[in-house]
Amino acid sequence: MMKSQDAKTIGVLGFGIMGHTWATALLTGDLEVHVFEQNKETIDKNRGRVKKYLQRLVEKGKWSGDVDATMARLHFADTEHDLAKAGIDVLLEVIFEDLVLKCETFKRFGEMLPKDTIIWSNTSCLDVEKMAEASGRPDRFIGTHGMNPVHLMVGIEIVRHPQLSDTVLEFTVGMMKRINKEPFVTDNVPGFIVNNGLIPWMIHYYHMLERGQATTVDIDTALKTSLGHPQGVLMLHDYVGTNTMVLVSEELYKATLDPRYKLPQFIYDMNEAGHQGFASGRGFYDWTEPKNPKPIPFAELVRKK
Ligand SMILES: NC(=O)c1ccc[n+]([C@@H]2O[C@H](COP(=O)([O-])OP(=O)(O)OC[C@H]3O[C@@H](n4cnc5c(N)ncnc54)[C@H](O)[C@@H]3O)[C@@H](O)[C@H]2O)c1
Repeated sequence: MMKSQDAKTIGVLGFGIMGHTWATALLTGDLEVHVFEQNKETIDKNRGRVKKYLQRLVEKGKWSGDVDATMARLHFADTEHDLAKAGIDVLLEVIFEDLVLKCETFKRFGEMLPKDTIIWSNTSCLDVEKMAEASGRPDRFIGTHGMNPVHLMVGIEIVRHPQLSDTVLEFTVGMMKRINKEPFVTDNVPGFIVNNGLIPWMIHYYHMLERGQATTVDIDTALKTSLGHPQGVLMLHDYVGTNTMVLVSEELYKATLDPRYKLPQFIYDMNEAGHQGFASGRGFYDWTEPKNPKPIPFAELVRKK
């Protein structure tokens, strides 16, 4: 089994919100990164962001690499097959949170990848053992749930399951430390550690807002100033994306039938209207000026675009 210090090349499947920030984090760990993303516009948009993040890390004294030389380690494959054959030590999956889509994808990659290649999934809440089985290499499949944005957040939730090999767990923890993360390990329970508790808590504040008991700004200010959170939950929602909140909450409700995971209707209405938050320019805040987000009154949240 390869040691974490010997791994050189990581494949990243999906270059959306999480995929491109994962790629940034991996690049800062001196790794070669090969990406396959199905949407060309997403590549064009997020490739430039990776460069900006690297520049900002240098400006803030958080990393001292050469930005242009590092960008030369970021490669784009034309097809899934090319990614599978790019000599990657690990495939990191960062596609939509959909169990059927992920299982079908893992089945294909399980057949295309060399048998030793390890697979990591960034799933927020899906059953890691089911996906491991779909990949045909359950001992080499592990959950690595990074937090948004991965290049700035140090926590990585490592999800183990009964069929996982101890050496793959050890390798993965070592790799996370190599890119300056603080991994923590959890069983494969619905929502793992983070979302198991975070989702009911966010939903609690959606209800409070809906009942008119406090405004968006008041809720977010309370959590920032009084609980020491870097941002309030409603702003966090905008960074996570309404679509991801819907997918994760529904998945957790299905797995547990616990009503604390049931979203209020207005979140579905926001999703339907395309108000995804930061990514679409509008969620609980108007992100027209990204550095100066403006809270949107509750009554206007679900206004159609
Ligand atoms: N958004 C968050 O804050 C957050 C946090 C932690 C974990 N996650 C998890 O990370 C994963 C990705 O979420 P996201 O927010 O980055 O979603 P996203 O929609 O921003 O990105 C997903 C990307 O995957 C691409 N894609 C889908 N299928 C593909 C395929 N077969 N081949 C290549 N590319 C494909 C899409 O085109 C899209 O660009 C999900 O499992 C999500 O639950 C998200």
